[in-house]
Amino acid sequence: DAEDTLQARPPVVTIMGHVDHGKTSLLDALRGTDVVRGEAGGITQHMGAYQIKTKGGDLVTFLDTPGHAAFTQMRMRGANVTDIVVLVVAADDGIMPQTIEAINHTKAAGVPMIVAINKCDKHEANPQKVRERLLEHEIVVEEMSGDVQDVEVSAKTGKGLDELIEKILLQAELLELKANPDREAEATVIEAKLDKGKGPLATVLVNRGTLKVGDILVVGTESGRVRAMLDDKGRQVKVAPPSMPVEVLGIGGVPMAGDKLTVVDSEQRAREVSSW
Ligand code: GTP
Ligand code: NA
Ligand code: MG
Repeated sequence: DAEDTLQARPPVVTIMGHVDHGKTSLLDALRGTDVVRGEAGGITQHMGAYQIKTKGGDLVTFLDTPGHAAFTQMRMRGANVTDIVVLVVAADDGIMPQTIEAINHTKAAGVPMIVAINKCDKHEANPQKVRERLLEHEIVVEEMSGDVQDVEVSAKTGKGLDELIEKILLQAELLELKANPDREAEATVIEAKLDKGKGPLATVLVNRGTLKVGDILVVGTESGRVRAMLDDKGRQVKVAPPSMPVEVLGIGGVPMAGDKLTVVDSEQRAREVSSW
């Protein structure tokens, strides 16, 4: 897109870290909801996508990822659609195997990282030890005179959450994130499933352009027409601008996470492209 058609877009922030270090709890605290309690066994099984409005009115898109060892693929995808990674490390537990894996995904994706040292409300919390251990993985935080931002937080008490948002917005500003909203949409599938009542459902993240109800689309080997879109609170929306996650109804089959979605100008074109 030409430079003059580009407009600022919200940052896409992926939350990564070891199992049970408090990724979903932190997002809950930021959103003022209680997703953790609704999860089977308190384990995130899929990638949740949310958009929050900060006190200053800025939008931030968050992707939650599972910490469980079986979900490497999903974390990899998370790192690939993201602008910024927030690495959550529990201050009592410290650096663990999925922490290291998340560090490696982030480095491979070449995106900036902010370290959120969580559970700082706990007795056993030792944030300084976390910073020292991060050095072994070449993550040098501000406190240690490095350039990786870090913040002590507690999802339980709310400590440090405003500071975390400030650091995300600061980092986003440096990245000068832009997209052209006035073109046919391109999006990435975050997760997809078959719903008994609604049919194939795909949560997509809009990369550029604006996705609209009625748009004809191709996604992976599937095609369809956007029948309805729901935001992260389940409300119907007619349009989804860059960086907005939405659930799309009207796709002919269930696409795969990571598939690219593109809007085309006719159903014939959609059939041609999807049968390639
Ligand atoms: P997975 O999705 O399974 O990888 O876990 P997660 O990283 O999303 O962690 P989750 O939010 O499910 O939290 C795990 C446990 O830690 C829950 O029992 C939370 O209540 C608890 N927890 C999370 N954050 C904090 C915190 O800041 N302080 C304390 N004391 N407990 C916390
Ligand atoms: Na958990
Ligand atoms: Mg979780």
